[in-house]
Amino acid sequence: MNLGENLGVDLSIKRLHPLFGAEVRGVDLSHAIDLATQRAIEQTMDEYAVSVLPEQQLDDDHQVAFAALYGPLEVAPEVKGKTGARGIGKRIKHREIFDISNLDDDGRILDADDQRAVYQQGNQLWHTDSSFRQKSATWSMLHARVVPPDGADTELLDTRAVYDALPSATKTKIEGLVAEHSIWHSRAKLGGYVPSEEERKSRPPARHPLVRRHPGSGRKALYVASHASHIVGWPIDDGRALLEELIEFATQSKFVYAHKWRVGDLVIWDNRCTMHRATPYQSTQYVRDLRRTTIIDAAQLAAS
Ligand code: OGA
Ligand code: MN
Repeated sequence: MNLGENLGVDLSIKRLHPLFGAEVRGVDLSHAIDLATQRAIEQTMDEYAVSVLPEQQLDDDHQVAFAALYGPLEVAPEVKGKTGARGIGKRIKHREIFDISNLDDDGRILDADDQRAVYQQGNQLWHTDSSFRQKSATWSMLHARVVPPDGADTELLDTRAVYDALPSATKTKIEGLVAEHSIWHSRAKLGGYVPSEEERKSRPPARHPLVRRHPGSGRKALYVASHASHIVGWPIDDGRALLEELIEFATQSKFVYAHKWRVGDLVIWDNRCTMHRATPYQSTQYVRDLRRTTIIDAAQLAAS
C-alpha cells in the first residue's frame, strides 16, 4: 500500500499487526524532510499508532531535529535524581534525548543494582510515556544505536482497538472517570527505587480522563498505564482494582505487537492511544543503547 501517494510522497507501508502498526520505508531522516513527507508520517501515525522506520542512520542532532518537527520536546528532569546520568552528560549532550540504555556516562555497562538500572526496570511494566505529567506526551521516538543479540523486544498495543473490544457495560462504567497518575506509583510497584524528597516534589501526580478521543483518528482510546494509581473520587482499592482489570484486558496477547530491534530502527508510538513495555535481556552482559525523544502534547499545553 502506498499511503503517501495522495500527498505526492512515495512512502511504502507494511502492516505489522492486524489491529495497528506500520513499517514505513522510503524516507531518510538524516536529511531534512519536506512538508509532504512530514504530513504523510503524521497520517500514518494517526491511522496506525505505531510506525517502524528501519535503517535510519541518525545521530542525536538528527533525532532531535526530526522530533521537533512535530512539537515541543520534553527535556530530562531539572532535578538530578539518584538516576545520576540523566541530563547533560558525556555520552549525551542534549537534554531532549532520554537515555534508554544500560550504560553509565563513560559507556560502561551498569551494575544490576545501580539506581539507574533499577529505575529503568519500571519500563517493563505496561505503560504509556509521561501520563504522570499534566502536560503529557503525544509521540515517543525510540532509536536503536546498539542492540543485544537476544531479548529486549519492546511490546506495544493500540488502546483504541482495546477500547473497541471492551464489553459495552465496561464502556458505560468507565465513561467520564478520571485517573490519577504518578511516576512514583509505578516505581513503588517494583520496590527498588525510592526517590529523594526533592525528586518527589519535582514530579507531582497528574489527572487524566480514562477514555479520551484521539484527535487524529477521532477514535476513542483507553488511557491507562502502570503510572495510574487510582480513580479520582473512588475508594483507592476499588479504583486500583478497576485499573488492574482494564490493564489485564488491554494486554491480552491478541492485542500485542512485539518489536524485535535492529540497529537503525526508529520506532514511533503515539502515547495517547498505545501502551508499551520493555522485556528482559542479559543487561549486565550486553550493551543496549536506545535513545528517545518525546513530544509534549500541545493540547495539554494549551489547557494549562
Ligand atoms: C521507553 C520505553 C521500552 C524499551 O523508552 O519509553 O519504555 O524496550 N522503552 O526500552
Ligand atoms: Mn516508555
